Amino acid sequence: MKISFGLPKLPKTGAIAAGVAEGGKLSPTAQEIDKLTQGAVKRAIKGSRFTGKKGQLLDLVAPAGLAAERVLLVGLGRPADLQDVDLENLGGAVVGRLATTGVKEAAIMVDVIEGFAAKPAQRAARYGFGALLAAYRFDKYRTKEKPDSKPSLAKVNVLLRGPAAAQKAFAEMEKVAEGVFLTRNLVSEPANVLFPKSLAAEARKLATLGVKLQVLGEKEMKRLGMGALLGVAQGSANEPQLLIMRWDGAARAKEKRPIAFVGKGVTFDSGGISIKPAANMEDMKWDMGGAGVVIGLMKALAGRKAKVNAVGICGLVENMPSGTAQRPGDIVTSMSGQTVEVINTDAEGRLVLADALWYVQEKFKPRAIVDLATLTGAIIVALGHEYAGLFSNDDTLAERIAAAGKAVGEPAWRMPLGDAYDKAIDSDAADMKNVGNRAGGSITAAQFLQRFVQKGTAWAHLDIAGVTWSTKAKSTVPKGGTGFGVRLLDRLVAEHYES
Ligand code: BES
Ligand code: MN
Ligand code: ZN
Repeated sequence: MKISFGLPKLPKTGAIAAGVAEGGKLSPTAQEIDKLTQGAVKRAIKGSRFTGKKGQLLDLVAPAGLAAERVLLVGLGRPADLQDVDLENLGGAVVGRLATTGVKEAAIMVDVIEGFAAKPAQRAARYGFGALLAAYRFDKYRTKEKPDSKPSLAKVNVLLRGPAAAQKAFAEMEKVAEGVFLTRNLVSEPANVLFPKSLAAEARKLATLGVKLQVLGEKEMKRLGMGALLGVAQGSANEPQLLIMRWDGAARAKEKRPIAFVGKGVTFDSGGISIKPAANMEDMKWDMGGAGVVIGLMKALAGRKAKVNAVGICGLVENMPSGTAQRPGDIVTSMSGQTVEVINTDAEGRLVLADALWYVQEKFKPRAIVDLATLTGAIIVALGHEYAGLFSNDDTLAERIAAAGKAVGEPAWRMPLGDAYDKAIDSDAADMKNVGNRAGGSITAAQFLQRFVQKGTAWAHLDIAGVTWSTKAKSTVPKGGTGFGVRLLDRLVAEHYES
């Protein structure tokens, strides 16, 4: 999808999107169209239940008096209430409605309306960002799709007075969208295509943006003593990888210590010897969603040249059952020196993260760590598919993440941690076991991770099992891989960690 910005002249072809505020108050463009069409806009509203409520749409096809083929009335609700994320949703809704109608181009008319919270240039950029995010598709393996069901819409022109300022604001958002798209692509790829080595190879392409990359193989990880990660990988024919990415964008005199992002990159999770049931096991191709976000985030940060030092670490492994697979009851020694009794080989993400977390602390002494993982089914039971689970040992970091999530429409809900939960993973045979009982499964998983966080390090864990993949489209997030987390963490960095 091409997004461009131009001057507010009614186009002669394609679709025109014009705003209507709550209560049916027409924007100047909607009024102008109403005049040109001898009242078609007002008649259409009268003949429908469209009232201008936020997100409502009303489609007029080929009204006489207008050269363009379609008019799309867009409900703005109360303009003063519209936040960035609402504006993005409106831009996305326009694309959603017009994508397969046959029109190739749409103009979004940004009028100067009293009472809008955001300036026209900001509004226009947000519309463009939402439209771009909504137009994403993962269709590379669909060789027989009928032309009729493919999207026709190829271009969105956002039109306003002073388009240059909008274009400039949009340029940064476009880089973030590119990060989101990379994440969505990676999450959507099947596990026969995307395995530890090929995923690392995809990440290596970020070198062209100035990201520094290093990839450790099995031998190096053995030398480092990463017995927890390697135990998970040992049943697979695919060699595990530890992916290390650095973006050093901070101004020279400023805080040097990086913020660290750690991702669970299980490219396929069969459960291992504690094998999963067949139903929906195909979903476990996206068990590398945490790593996908970390890689997409690095692309966004490097793309927009964020003034921050950031490291991204991803443990990439495949969890398979085989004659060499780890068994329930095995005891592994992690890089931290702590031993783990592996009660359930399907609780593998925490084992991978344990060594990745330890590594990043030893190597980089980060000022804060955020890890992301499709870690537990239990978080879906708790929060469904709306919120990510947020766990943290640091109230400031937790509040910052919750606020950033809310602002971008990727919300995270804080969950508790505590000694009573921690006891559930004590083991008689080793320092800890990798599962508790059924109760509080997402919390005991987070407690496990916390045992690998060093004293004094601010750490947050996002359990994204419920939000990484979506079976129903939302206005800026089509079905499939969502990219949830990229916009949240980009916002977190922009607001609190850039110099
Ligand atoms: N990758 C899964 C968690 C998951 C489940 C992600 C559904 C997305 C959708 C994780 O490795 C896992 O298997 N967790 C187990 C833990 C249990 C064995 C303690 C779970 O949640 O059932
Ligand atoms: Mn598992
Ligand atoms: Zn898993």
